Amino acid sequence: MNSPVLQEVTRLEVTVLVDNYTDVLALQSTDVQRRPLIPPSAMPILAEHGFSCLLKIYTDSHEYHVLMDAGMSAICLIHNSEKLGVDLGRIKEVVLSHGHFDHFGGLFELLDRAGREIELIVHPDVFLRRRINLPIGITADMPELDEDSLKRKKVVLRKIKDPSLLASNHILVTGEVERVTDFEKGFPWAEAAVDNEWVIDPFRDDQGLAVKVRNRGLVVIGGCSHAGIINIVKHAQKTAQTDHVHAVLGGFHLTGPVFESVIAPTVEEMKRIGPDYVVPMHCTGWDAINMFAKEMPDQFLLNTVGTTYVFQ
Ligand SMILES: [Fe+2]
Repeated sequence: MNSPVLQEVTRLEVTVLVDNYTDVLALQSTDVQRRPLIPPSAMPILAEHGFSCLLKIYTDSHEYHVLMDAGMSAICLIHNSEKLGVDLGRIKEVVLSHGHFDHFGGLFELLDRAGREIELIVHPDVFLRRRINLPIGITADMPELDEDSLKRKKVVLRKIKDPSLLASNHILVTGEVERVTDFEKGFPWAEAAVDNEWVIDPFRDDQGLAVKVRNRGLVVIGGCSHAGIINIVKHAQKTAQTDHVHAVLGGFHLTGPVFESVIAPTVEEMKRIGPDYVVPMHCTGWDAINMFAKEMPDQFLLNTVGTTYVFQ
């Protein structure tokens, strides 16, 4: 039997529910980038170091709502969802990009509020113990996603390493990402307990999503892109058997001195891939965001939390 093939959609809306950056006065919308229209006086939308976005997928006959990641805190995720009028009850499936707390922090509250059984798609390594070695000589344990606590929620847990399809085959979850570039080398400060031994985190769990928009091409979304955003895009292209990339969004994890040397080759390779839009978010960092703005001025879109991207 042939494995299922990623199906085209007529329209994709990506609403950024949690991100690091807010600007309540950035109200200039276009057909593709729609800013939230929330009056600044009414406790507007909040930013935090985290990531979450809602994908609304439209086909000729159906609409699917899928959440990618859940931010660092329920405070931000729930508040912003309410401000933006997002109906959490319509979400049937949640995908975690990887097992860091700035991507699962609001998950338990979300599951409580959803009022229905949620299918949760993760790579099995999201449950690894993790820590970070900071250059100030401190090793900090990171909050863990506790599998037993999760199982006590109304959740159907799907632990998958390989590529898989969601929403009646309209969303590709990349699964474990093949490393093909020579400049995306992971995050040397991050460690994971693999087989009870602390090692530099291999981030096998880091994955992205891809949606194929009719007459446009692939829209690829990374969470933190510890696997490398270029690796993620190439893996999505290969798995979806689609060359043209319409847009690349998400956290590209290029912030701080460790990643300084990775910024230029990432931007160069992104130019070669040639998406119509590039939207660096969350952990991409100031230097990399500015280089994308300078080197890809016609493709670059500056994200603010609450913005909806419409691809059709
Ligand atoms: Fe992150």
